[in-house]
Amino acid sequence: MAVTIKSEREIELMRESCRLLAIVHKELEEYIRPGISTLDIDVKGDTLIRKLGCVPNFKDYNGYPASICVSVNDEVVHGIPTKKRILQEGDIVSLDAGLIYKGYHSDAARTHAVGQISPQAQKLIDVTMESFFAGVKMAKAGNHLFDISNAIDAYIRPHGYGIVRDLVGHGIGTSLHEDPQIPNFAQRRRGLKLQAGMTLAVEPMINMGRADVEWLDDNWTVVTEDGSLSAHYENTILITDGEPEILTLY
Ligand code: MF3
Ligand code: CO
Repeated sequence: MAVTIKSEREIELMRESCRLLAIVHKELEEYIRPGISTLDIDVKGDTLIRKLGCVPNFKDYNGYPASICVSVNDEVVHGIPTKKRILQEGDIVSLDAGLIYKGYHSDAARTHAVGQISPQAQKLIDVTMESFFAGVKMAKAGNHLFDISNAIDAYIRPHGYGIVRDLVGHGIGTSLHEDPQIPNFAQRRRGLKLQAGMTLAVEPMINMGRADVEWLDDNWTVVTEDGSLSAHYENTILITDGEPEILTLY
């Protein structure tokens, strides 16, 4: 599929879709505490998305069974919520959520601390978020796609963390996943030229240890191969002729 350029009307719909998703994330953040199950988070998120008049876009996507991806500790992304998995003090939990508003998709992820966590885990969460902003600083019309990838890589590298290579960011609009793919690690080429009206989901996934990941037998949950912690931070953004708009911030 080709990269789409959104019209002013479509951009308004993307803005609203993303604004509503930011509300969902805010409420989920406040809900996180030791003792709740990962399924509790899914139920909360699914209910809220529907109350806002939207549809959860992850539910049944290629057979994914839930509305919110909940990934704990060494789980990188796409963890499946269950009643049995109870959040414990000291865990870190990544929430990936998305919704459809009037046909337009939004997508964002946050990693949260459960109660008190180690300084090392907090650092991983912070640096992952900072790497997103370092990448997005390059996201403007006239720059190239891989300027984003290179900036994320350059930000992470001095910390010695593993940048996940098997999963990437993506274009987004009337589909959850549109072209282009957006790697979070350095590229040799420059990639396509960015144009105003592109909407992109930029989403670094960063491991405290090595970059390698594997899939659990559920065929969804991605975990770090070395068992190290992993963090995820994602927003849907709009390319403009000036500074990018980060549409899913609260
Ligand atoms: N946020 C994820 C992404 O960017 C989507 C989750 S995949 C799903 O690709 F199947 F769970 F929907
Ligand atoms: Co995404």
